[in-house]
Amino acid sequence: MRPLIVIGNWKMNGNLASNADWIKTVARGMESGMPADRQYVVCPPHPYLAQCAQLIKEHSLAFLSLGAQDASAQSSGAYTGEASASMLKELGCRYVILGHSERRQLHHEVDEVVAAKALQVLDNGMTPVICVGETADERNSGRAEEVVCGQITKQVAVLQDRLVDCLIAYEPVWAIGTGKVASAQVAQDMHRHIRLQLAEFDEDVASHVGILYGGSVKPDNAVELFAMPDIDGGLVGGVSLNPNDFLAICQA
Ligand code: PGA
Repeated sequence: MRPLIVIGNWKMNGNLASNADWIKTVARGMESGMPADRQYVVCPPHPYLAQCAQLIKEHSLAFLSLGAQDASAQSSGAYTGEASASMLKELGCRYVILGHSERRQLHHEVDEVVAAKALQVLDNGMTPVICVGETADERNSGRAEEVVCGQITKQVAVLQDRLVDCLIAYEPVWAIGTGKVASAQVAQDMHRHIRLQLAEFDEDVASHVGILYGGSVKPDNAVELFAMPDIDGGLVGGVSLNPNDFLAICQA
């Protein structure tokens, strides 16, 4: 049985005061207990990881894990501005989002780099959350499955059966930050497609890998999405900035 996972991706938002308020509100909301078969993760920007790790500890927030939004493909050295997986691990991260479409588009990150980053994250005992997804043009021209399968194939080529320790996030680019959510059925169809593709490589990997949906997840569409058999949770961007909405999605 795959656990349901909800990951909040704050992107480049937050400040010391608002982060503290967020953790306090979520701690209060989680106080009375959360469904035990689920995992909850928050991914603040790198400069706030230490602060959030400390706050999670202070509030004894056993239900909430820390994640980062990116990691370097290198282990150390002359890479100005980068943060290595070992540094993120040292700060208490358990998950690292990789290959988000914003990094692919704005930083020209390609699948080979994403896979190299995933190896670093795995070697440091954390879980890579590997994002894949098609653009609106690719979907409109009937190439959505081909594009996503191409991205998955490149990860399989490098990560092989270590993929079993990764999460995949299907995030259609046209649904990110646009309010245009993929219908639960459209998302389920792509998740199924990804799982069948993984099964061609290894049945065991396919049945164990968690596949999250991301792109305009909100409290009022989370229930329907999470009820789908191949959707194992959500990667939530904008809406996760509101701690009450994040809690509502965690409880969906
Ligand atoms: P969104 O972003 O929830 O704001 O659409 C999702 C993501 O980018 O991970």
